[in-house]
Amino acid sequence: MNEVQIIGTGSYVPAQIITNDHLSTIVETNDEWISSRTGIKERRISKGETTSALASGAAKKALEDAGISPETIDLIIVATMTPDYFMPSTACLVQKEIKAYNATCFDLSAACSGFLYALNTGYQFIRSGQSNTALIIGADTYSKILDWSDRSTCVLFGDGAGAVVLQKCENKGIIAMYTGSDGRGDTLLTCPAVAHNSPFSPAIDAPKSVVSMDGKEVFRFATTIVPKCIEEVLKSSSYTTEDIKYYVLHQANARMMDLISKKMNIDIEKFYKNIERYGNTSAASIPIALDEINQNGILKKGDLFILVGFGGGLTWGSALLQW
Ligand code: ACO
Repeated sequence: MNEVQIIGTGSYVPAQIITNDHLSTIVETNDEWISSRTGIKERRISKGETTSALASGAAKKALEDAGISPETIDLIIVATMTPDYFMPSTACLVQKEIKAYNATCFDLSAACSGFLYALNTGYQFIRSGQSNTALIIGADTYSKILDWSDRSTCVLFGDGAGAVVLQKCENKGIIAMYTGSDGRGDTLLTCPAVAHNSPFSPAIDAPKSVVSMDGKEVFRFATTIVPKCIEEVLKSSSYTTEDIKYYVLHQANARMMDLISKKMNIDIEKFYKNIERYGNTSAASIPIALDEINQNGILKKGDLFILVGFGGGLTWGSALLQW
């Protein structure tokens, strides 16, 4: 089996910044409520840039960081639940934009766990020898699927994309991966797709394609599943929580991270946080954070770090890596 390493990262967010104060002119909310409940101060909102445009922006930066040409890429996976089209896939649109014509391309849907699922899929492709160099992207434009009159959801999310280049290597860059799902939690986080609309089906009132969420239950789920995700990847290694330099969790809520750090007795300083600047960018949040960590030189060669995603489905996943 081949070993696999991250050799480059990139991220791309829309230029438009929407602050909490700005949101309070649209819905009945305020900076104090949003900041104290979530840690979010501002988010980036697309002015019409598509998911594939954000994904391509992140991909170009990741290729540049890795120092490889687009032809080297033989696999592109985009984790998203806000594609430009049902068909073609976002990954095919990225392929065209970055001219990575040697790649097999597909999208993957696992909501906010999408990046971990895509990372695991790319990892398995390279492990098995079917791929050598893969571009793994998490990209979402939630601004197009939010009900902007629903203050309980619209204040939480932002748009963005992050990418990593995975490559076959000598060193064990990815040490362990873990994923899981529970479809019994299907109603806790939803966004309906198109409804039946044919002469052969009864007419129905099509639900709107907007996000709805049972915030309290999702909070409970996340604070239970994240410790399990961390334990699962550590279990399959000889390491303990003490050995880990950084925990990069899906950026959904700063309070959630505080609670998990207390529950697991892990110093909160080890949890990377950028939610105050981006809000919850779904599949993009982990690779955006990872790119910031890389660009700021926070991780040194040999450092261990853990990624954890969780979200709609319900879905979850984690990875233990060595830089
Ligand atoms: N501004 C002001 N007041 C608000 C707002 C707002 N934006 N939103 C809700 N409120 C009000 C509610 O109406 C409620 O008022 P009431 O008591 O008069 O009825 C009050 O604030 C409390 O609302 P709660 O829902 O109880 O607030 P809570 O403390 O649970 O915080 C939150 C809500 C932040 C959403 C929290 O539950 C949470 O973070 N949950 C997890 C969300 C999450 O992680 N989602 C992403 C999952 S990943 C994915 O796959 C998308």
